[in-house]
Order: sequence, then C-alpha cells, then structure tokens
Amino acid sequence: MADSTVESRPVSRLVENSEFVFTSKDMSKISEIMMSEAGIVLPESKASLVYSRLVKRLRHLKLFSFSEYCELVEGANGKAERQELIAALTTNVTRFFREPHHFEHLRTKVLPDLIHRAKAGQKIRMWSAACSFGPEPYSMALTLLQELPDAGQYDIRILATDIDPNVLATASEGVFDEAQLAPVPEALRRKWFKPLGDASKKWQAKRELQQFISFRQLNLIGNWPMTGKFQVIFCRNVVIYFDNTTQEKIWSRFVPLMDKDSVLYIGHSERISGIADRSLKSDGITIYRNVTGKMSG
Ligand SMILES: C[S@@+](CC[C@H](N)C(=O)[O-])C[C@H]1O[C@@H](n2cnc3c(N)ncnc32)[C@H](O)[C@@H]1O
Repeated sequence: MADSTVESRPVSRLVENSEFVFTSKDMSKISEIMMSEAGIVLPESKASLVYSRLVKRLRHLKLFSFSEYCELVEGANGKAERQELIAALTTNVTRFFREPHHFEHLRTKVLPDLIHRAKAGQKIRMWSAACSFGPEPYSMALTLLQELPDAGQYDIRILATDIDPNVLATASEGVFDEAQLAPVPEALRRKWFKPLGDASKKWQAKRELQQFISFRQLNLIGNWPMTGKFQVIFCRNVVIYFDNTTQEKIWSRFVPLMDKDSVLYIGHSERISGIADRSLKSDGITIYRNVTGKMSG
C-alpha cells in the first residue's frame, strides 16, 4: 500500500499550473526507457525538465496524459516516438572549436605525424563520437585543412556519429548562422564556407570541407559496426549523461579501435576510469594517448 502511494505521487506538483498529469510512475518509466535506449541517467530531480521537453510531444500527438504517452512509447508501434523521446531529452549544446586547447593539440601535436603518414599513402581516420549538429567534426576538418589545404588528395576521413537522426540531418546540410560561426577565424570561414546569399545570412560548408565527413547514426551503448582503427577520437560531453559502469564500458570499447599513439579527446568534466586507464595515458587536460594499441596497416 505504502509503495503504491509513493508511486502515484504526482510529479506535476513540481511544474506550476501543469497542463498534463505527470506522476512518479510516468517519470520512472521514462527514466527506464532513456537508460535502456540511450544509457542516459534521468533522476526524478529532472522531472520538470522532462515535463517541459515532452509537453510539446503530448500536444502534437493529441494525448491527454503522460501515462498515455508512456503506453505509446512502450507499445509495439512506439519505435518512432522512442526516437522523438530520445531527441527531446538529450542535450545538443555544442559549438565550433569548443575547448580550443583540444584543436590546438590536434593541430600541433597530432596532425604533423598524421599528415606525414597520409602523404606516405596510409589512411587516416578520425571519429567525432557524439557530433550533435556538426560544429565538432567541422572544426576537426577545418583544423586539418589549416595544416593541409589539399587534404582532399589523401585518404583522410572523419566519421561523425550521434544517436539523434534530427541533429545528423542538420549536420550534413552544413548550414550555420553567423553567431554559430563566430568562433571560426574569418579567413577559415571565407575559405571553406559560402554565404547562402539570402536574407538568413547563413553560410554553408563548401563541398571541399564537407567531403571529409560522413554522418551516421550510432548509439554509443549499442552495436558499433566499424572495424578499422582510428588515429583520433573526439568523445566529448556525452558520457557525462551515463552512469559510471556505462562510461567505463565506452572507454574500454574505444581502446581496441585506437592505433598506438592515437588520441582521445573527452569533455571538460569527464575522466577516464576502469580498465581503459591502463592504455589511455594523459597527454594534456582531457586528452589521452593510447600507449598500448597496435599500429594498423
Ligand atoms: C552535449 S552534445 C555534445 C556535442 C559535442 N560532442 C560537443 O562536445 O560539443 C551531446 C550529444 O550526445 C548525443 N547522445 C546522447 N546519448 C547518446 C548515445 N547513447 N549515443 C550516441 N550519441 C548520444 C546527443 O544526441 C547529443 O547530440
């Protein structure tokens, strides 16, 4: 009895004048789904955020309550809405050259050797593992082009992945407004972006910039289809939303995909823990080198 009273306590009290009833039971169902589908931890303290992010979905679907919404998402035909749920509850905040010291490290400590290897005919692979709507992989490509303007002649590719197909669609268009492009040095912007020329004052990445990047949907807690090794991985500001066990699993899954001396860049409030710690050694603030990997051909 006591338990069921707790279970049905309306969380909606946290949201003043709320339009829909939102109970603890609804919240814990949504938390369970986010954990099993995306690895994301959502404690009940995030109830107001969950409510405000999902209320538009309920209106759009013409539902009357969160329990109806949970039923839909959990039902046999709920796959598409589960994707919408994940998209609504993930944080997509990103920006060009976020944490500039990572790009400076890439430019000065990593790219010189990779450029040498590319010129010797080796393939170079980089991965932006939670790319959001694109500034991170475009910043990686811009850093490469700064050092090697004819990089298109070599076998150099950037894989950019995210769980959310909506952000990937935006990212692959490569269209950004002036505020988003503010961190991009003027000369780089003029060289590798073209103004759309309409009233929006937006700019689009030129083909010569876009050509390096392949955008693909990938769930970090799901299957990773790639088999080749990477020389550079950016996995920033995503595992922060996972629990410790999941974080450690992700770090340990990167190691076999990393060449010896390859580099992993992580978010400013993240740290490497678990068995990956044996292979990934600090090479700067939130920068790790794989000291145990084997060179790929
Ligand atoms: C805060 S953004 C980080 C963007 C970029 N890495 C940066 O640091 O600027 C977090 C991204 O992680 C994605 N994400 C969340 N859970 C994921 C998962 N399980 N697998 C892959 N991507 C995920 C979200 O869709 C979102 O675009």
